[in-house]
This record gives sequence, C-alpha cells and structure tokens, in this order.
Amino acid sequence: MKTLEFRNGDKLDAIGLGTWKSDKGKVEEAVYTALKTGYTHIDCALVYGNEKEVGNGIHKALYEGIITRKDLWVTSKLWNNAHRREDVIPALKKSLKDLQLDYLDLYLMHWPVAFKSGLEGFPQGDDDYLSLDEVPIIETWDAMLEAKKQGLVKHVGVSNFSKKKLKDLMSKTDDNPEMNQVELHPLLRQDDLLDFCHKNNIHLTAFSPLGSGDRTPEMKADDEPDMMGNETVKNIAEKHQCTSAQVLIAFHLHRDTAVIPKSTNADRIKENLESAEIKFDDQDLKTLKSLDKHYRYVNGKFFENNSKYTNIYDD
Ligand code: A2P
Repeated sequence: MKTLEFRNGDKLDAIGLGTWKSDKGKVEEAVYTALKTGYTHIDCALVYGNEKEVGNGIHKALYEGIITRKDLWVTSKLWNNAHRREDVIPALKKSLKDLQLDYLDLYLMHWPVAFKSGLEGFPQGDDDYLSLDEVPIIETWDAMLEAKKQGLVKHVGVSNFSKKKLKDLMSKTDDNPEMNQVELHPLLRQDDLLDFCHKNNIHLTAFSPLGSGDRTPEMKADDEPDMMGNETVKNIAEKHQCTSAQVLIAFHLHRDTAVIPKSTNADRIKENLESAEIKFDDQDLKTLKSLDKHYRYVNGKFFENNSKYTNIYDD
C-alpha cells in the first residue's frame, strides 16, 4: 500500500474508508469489515452524523486485536458551527467521545466557512453565518493548533481550501496545514492546487473519488456526468482487468494523494482496497487526465445563499 509521510515521519495508508453518507445502521459493520480487510485509515466527520457508529466499529476491531491504535489512522473534521476559538476543543472532544478515542490522528477544518456558534442544520441566510471578519480562519486554526499541543490530535489540516485560502492562512501562521482534503478525480484534476500543495509539503486527500452517486437528489445536478460509466474509464478498466471504481481510486495513488472511497458493502470495500495493486502506464494516466473538465459533484456554492460568503472557490 502506498503511504504518505508526514513531517514527523508518521505514515498514512493512501486508501482510506470514507464514511460520508454511510447509513448509521450499516457503518459500524463497514468500519469493522474494512479494518478486518486490511484498511488502517478511516475518514470521518462530526457532520456525517454517524461517528458513534463508526466508533463502535473501531472499538470492536481494537478490542478483538484486529488492529492496534498505533497502526490505526482516524481523521475527523471540525464542523462550521464551531469555528470560534472557544468552540473548537469542545467540538473535537465530542468527536473523540463518539469515536471512543483519546486522540485523533488528523483533524481538519471542514470548510473555510463559519456558521453561528452551535447552529443546527443548514444555514438559512446572513444571520446564520459568521463572516471571515467576525471569525477569521486564523482564529480557528490557532485553536486547532492548541488541540494538537494538548495531545488531542497528532496532525491538523484543512478541507475544501483553495490555493488562495491556503496561501492566506500560511501567511499568518508558522505551523502550516499538513493536509487539504478536496474533491479530486479525473473530471476535476486541480493540478495547480496539487502542485502548490506538494511544493509546500501539504498532502492532499481526494474525496468523492467515485462521484458520490449516493448523494441526496437535492445535492445532484440534473446533467451530472457519469464518471463510473465513462467509456474511457471503462476501457482502461478492461485493459487492466479491473473495475471502473478501481481505476478511479488508483488514479490518486499515481498522483501521490490519499483517497477515501465510501462503501458500506463488504465486497466493494475489499475491491476498493485492492485498487492499490493497479499500475498504470504513462498513456493510461495521460488518457485519464484528458477527461478533466473541472467538474464538481460537491459544489460548495450551497454556502453562498448569503452575502457573507460569495466566492468559496476563489482560484
Ligand atoms: P456502496 O456504499 O453501496 O458500496 P464516493 O466514494 O465517491 O462518495 O462514492 C460512494 C458511492 O459509490 C456509494 O454509492 C457506494 O455505494 C458506491 N461504491 C463504492 N465502491 C464502489 C465500487 N467498488 N463499485 C461501485 N460502486 C461503489
């Protein structure tokens, strides 16, 4: 398995199990199955609403000796309603409690967007948001660094950050993010962001690598491209005698990023991990890269229903 090395020498298995959209009734078994199958990397977030069930799966695997805490990597994310300095550590502690862990391996700021403290649900308009003047990113970031200092997390990073937002944060801190988790796949290569991150020693994790077909209808555009059914992807899968999903996962291993396909199905969980064995030649990569059309399945523009955030993707 390809690994990403962090500044202190810690290593992360590049393929992790995603848990966004995983049913509460299925995710405990999915996490347990994944750890039994050989995954060591589980990606979670408080807003996914299933961290207790994820925690039960982790606990079962640890209890049965399937994996040790030292060999396990758990990532979680700070939700937008806890960006104020005083809200960060309590939010982190809630995730730790639900996950039944005493530290996280990686904690990410989920979006560069702040809601009113403690807001439940989706914001309705200006009053539900706090602008970046009211809660600057650096305030949230410093609180995350404090959590690291206290030993509650080993590494800190961000998610859904553009190059411009990363640069801005980096100009204000001596302790740069170690990870940026963003949507990446052949239809959304983001090469400029990838180059910038790698030059600055920031790892990337690819979310929605399979196009997240299980999003709710409200989150889907009518004319979405079918990445798994794409003829080019299917041809490369045929060439390598694997599935389209495996091609889409292996793509990231060839670009030195982590990738977190979500599945709650035991066969697909295994299939996704086995993508690690697929080796593309230069032509395969070139062909996959030619699919790029800067298409986002998860478009953060849903946070632009207000006057405080008007340009989430500003590069
Ligand atoms: P399931 O959980 O039933 O396996 P993403 O990781 O981009 O968010 O995509 C998740 C979606 O892709 C889910 O609907 C998931 O369904 C499905 N999926 C995950 N792995 C595979 C696979 N190997 N083949 C086909 N579909 C998959």
